[in-house]
Amino acid sequence: MRILFLCLGNICRSPTAEAVFRDVAARAGLMVEVDSAGTGDWHVGEPPYGPMQQAALARGYDLSRLRARQLSVRDFHAFDLILAMDAKNLRDARRLARPDARAELRLFLDERLSGASAMDVPDPYYTRDFDGCITLIEQGAMRLLVALQPPQ
Ligand code: 4NP
Repeated sequence: MRILFLCLGNICRSPTAEAVFRDVAARAGLMVEVDSAGTGDWHVGEPPYGPMQQAALARGYDLSRLRARQLSVRDFHAFDLILAMDAKNLRDARRLARPDARAELRLFLDERLSGASAMDVPDPYYTRDFDGCITLIEQGAMRLLVALQPPQ
């Protein structure tokens, strides 16, 4: 199972989701490969945004080795699930998807995954609420884990 987390810049929300889900999945013993990308190309090659890295590190997630990359058509064939952080990321990704895409494209906080109504992960690059972003991503990651684990 390969999962790609997607946001706009790939320097705040999706690298955090990648690190959080990698951690949650490892602790649960779930075999999964995770990665992240952005729909935009402004930050390609850069590490996650400094204030995001600091907030994540304070919660136990080291983002320092991650580097931003842009979503490509190939990702729709390389991943099983592409999870967009907000509705705009989802729309932009849909435009790139070919009809024969392998990946299922969904909102990260999707109602089927989250058990609640679908919602965006607000962009902390603009809201400056890095801690709130991590909390929301941790909740989403736990729900995703439950949704992906085979019934006992
Ligand atoms: P992200 O946040 O999509 O969560 O990585 C952003 C970071 C940078 C920009 C936009 C969103 N930017 O326009 O530079």
